Amino acid sequence: MELDALKAALVASPENVPLLVMVAKACAEEFELEEAKLHWERVLALDPNHTEALIGVAQLLDLDGKTSEAILRLEVLCARDAGVAEAWLLRAKLALKEGDAHDAREFYEAAQALDMGCRDEDLLERIVKAGGTSASGGEKKKRLVMTGDGHYVEKVDEGEEDETEGMDAVAARELGVEFSKKGGVKFADVGGMEEVKENIRMKIIFPLQKPELFKAYGKKAGGGVLMYGPPGCGKTLLAKATAGEIESNFLSVGLHQILDMYIGQSEQKLHQIFELARKYAPTVLFFDEVDALAADRRDMRQSGSRGLINQLLAEMDGANGSNEGVLILGATNAPWHLDSAFLRPGRFDRLLFVPPPDAEARKEVARIHAREKPIVNLDEEALAKKTDGFSGADIRAVFDQAVESTLEEAMKKGKVVPVTGKTLAKTAKQVKPSTHKWFESAKNYALYANQSGFYDEVLEFMGIKK
Ligand SMILES: Nc1ncnc2c1ncn2[C@@H]1O[C@H](COP(=O)(O)OP(=O)(O)OP(=O)(O)O)[C@@H](O)[C@H]1O
Ligand SMILES: [Mg+2]
Repeated sequence: MELDALKAALVASPENVPLLVMVAKACAEEFELEEAKLHWERVLALDPNHTEALIGVAQLLDLDGKTSEAILRLEVLCARDAGVAEAWLLRAKLALKEGDAHDAREFYEAAQALDMGCRDEDLLERIVKAGGTSASGGEKKKRLVMTGDGHYVEKVDEGEEDETEGMDAVAARELGVEFSKKGGVKFADVGGMEEVKENIRMKIIFPLQKPELFKAYGKKAGGGVLMYGPPGCGKTLLAKATAGEIESNFLSVGLHQILDMYIGQSEQKLHQIFELARKYAPTVLFFDEVDALAADRRDMRQSGSRGLINQLLAEMDGANGSNEGVLILGATNAPWHLDSAFLRPGRFDRLLFVPPPDAEARKEVARIHAREKPIVNLDEEALAKKTDGFSGADIRAVFDQAVESTLEEAMKKGKVVPVTGKTLAKTAKQVKPSTHKWFESAKNYALYANQSGFYDEVLEFMGIKK
């Protein structure tokens, strides 16, 4: 049923790559393998470097018993771009099939180093059973090394050296942090926020790209940017996009998690996280929920948090290792709870308000979420008018819900029905803007705890102060 609808849609737009990908996957799920392969090949005809399609074809070849051809395809893929975790994982599986447990282990670790989430305990167990232990003796082994422009290449190690690449992956996972290389999202995928983007460029990106220029003016790079504002307005998204923009690694740390997971040893864990970021520099090191460190939080385990605060301050100051190439971003909904020591020079020395998107930005956010969806008659102007007070996440919810209800209709009719501007407008009425509540509570802090005018922007936004 669903597959039929997708195929019908494909007749209408045969060159629609995202649609082709969906059909290929759906076919594979239904074990229509021949057809799945045809669709993947079609994707590759339109986009020869389409990673998912290359992997898809390799998977089908594997299912078809054509192991060596599958291996060959993957080798080509990894030679071009060694940064695709899934490809390495599949290579590990195929190598094991071919009886090469050492290679299998190496590929498995390469996958892990790239993406912590990319794991297959069962496969690992089989590799180990087959003799694929970690270090392959004194043999030369390949590993992934990042080049200056943020790409990964394979490098042959000369003997013993380290086997840490895979270890780091494990380490990051055990530390409970999200680690991804070359994040896909870029600034262009974040609607509006021009001022915040510009600040991040000036404060974070340019110093990294043009260190000489900074030195010429006697300025030291360093220090971080702390974003604050109502939920769902793109703080986390923008942090990720910063990494994507400069093709650096991205390390995201939820501070609540660190506190909860590592009672009594969170300082040491934090140090390890910084070490990881330094090792993989350039890295965007993103601290989410910085308010977890609020000194005046009543439910805080006082002693534990004080230690962590001091540790974070010391690490940010570079007291325990050079932070060159480590770009620090933070986000919080409640900056007023933060220890003011965080806001001193060299630390989070730029505090940026991330407001809900204005009408112009809402149009942009709408355009972004309309991408690659079968939408007709999108009236951004009208939608922007109907979504005053909406966060980016609220706007996304409008699109998600509109797609869902249209899909229901399509299922009933058994054919593709486009999402219309009208459906979007109707859906927008049903979604409640979520940012008002934040302003209600922010208002008091902005009015009464506004030392040095930190929160003037909030008051201005609310029309309280000009
Ligand atoms: N400016 C934007 N452009 C495009 N999409 C957006 C934008 N802002 C939010 N979104 C959408 O909303 C989702 C949630 O946004 P995000 O997690 O970045 O919000 P946040 O500010 O970090 O919220 P919180 O304070 O709750 O952590 C994003 O993944 C994205 O889909
Ligand atoms: Mg967030």
